[in-house]
Amino acid sequence: MNARRIVITGAGRGLGRAMTEKFAALGHTVFGCSRQPRQVESLRAAFAAPHRFDAVDVTDDAAVARWAKSVLAAGGPPDLLLNNAAVVNRNAVLWEVPPDEFARVIDVNINGVFHVLRHFVPAMVAVQRGVIVNFSSGWGRSTSPEVAPYCATKYAVEGLTLALAQELPAGMCAAPLNPGIINTEMLQSCFGEDAAAYPKPDKWAEKAVPFLLGLGPKDNGKSLTAPQ
Ligand SMILES: NC(=O)c1ccc[n+]([C@@H]2O[C@H](COP(=O)([O-])OP(=O)(O)OC[C@H]3O[C@@H](n4cnc5c(N)ncnc54)[C@H](OP(=O)(O)O)[C@@H]3O)[C@@H](O)[C@H]2O)c1
Repeated sequence: MNARRIVITGAGRGLGRAMTEKFAALGHTVFGCSRQPRQVESLRAAFAAPHRFDAVDVTDDAAVARWAKSVLAAGGPPDLLLNNAAVVNRNAVLWEVPPDEFARVIDVNINGVFHVLRHFVPAMVAVQRGVIVNFSSGWGRSTSPEVAPYCATKYAVEGLTLALAQELPAGMCAAPLNPGIINTEMLQSCFGEDAAAYPKPDKWAEKAVPFLLGLGPKDNGKSLTAPQ
């Protein structure tokens, strides 16, 4: 098996942490980021070098630029770039969402993805290799009440990613991924106690990680759904 170099945003908890654990267990190398220094410390303690974890807020373009530069310098372009980090608005009808909260959801879920792409993709294009997966949602393809800001961002992720797929050279792949419904803090925010009926992230990662490792040029421009 070839060890792959995998970049994951939001690696500190939820799906990001579960993917980190599974990729590492399979012998791949993870370059992850989290906003919270406490989580970066926890990741560093759990996954020693060559894995590497940095404190990066994806909304900060300059911080993402520094992170990408150091990751790329440490061993070249990633084989798999996972734009996983995101936030959801607190459940509310659209007209009652505070403007600063609306702006935060847009900033993390759209601008954050863009920042990561603009600093990692040129190195991948230069070698005409690599898979880019931008985490979308069922709410990037259909809607529900009280999560309109989140839906808007995930529809944007779909459009942004499918257009990016048309720009990449042959041999690469960009795809939006609906991960399914998994019991994370994000789901608990939306579903409350009903979130407990859904699988935990580590269970989800058992199938999702092999699925991600199997993606390639054949999947470019496809709206994907993870097995669950
Ligand atoms: N769980 C589900 O059922 C579900 C369904 C559909 C789609 N998704 C998508 O799957 C992905 C993972 O979701 P999840 O359920 O694992 O969510 P989660 O448990 O809330 O975790 C979100 C992750 O994103 C990180 N993050 C948030 N803002 C960030 C920022 N500005 N900079 C860097 N990292 C940031 C968080 O890090 P901090 O700890 O630093 O905040 C955390 O690691 C998201 O794209 C989500 O939209 C999830």
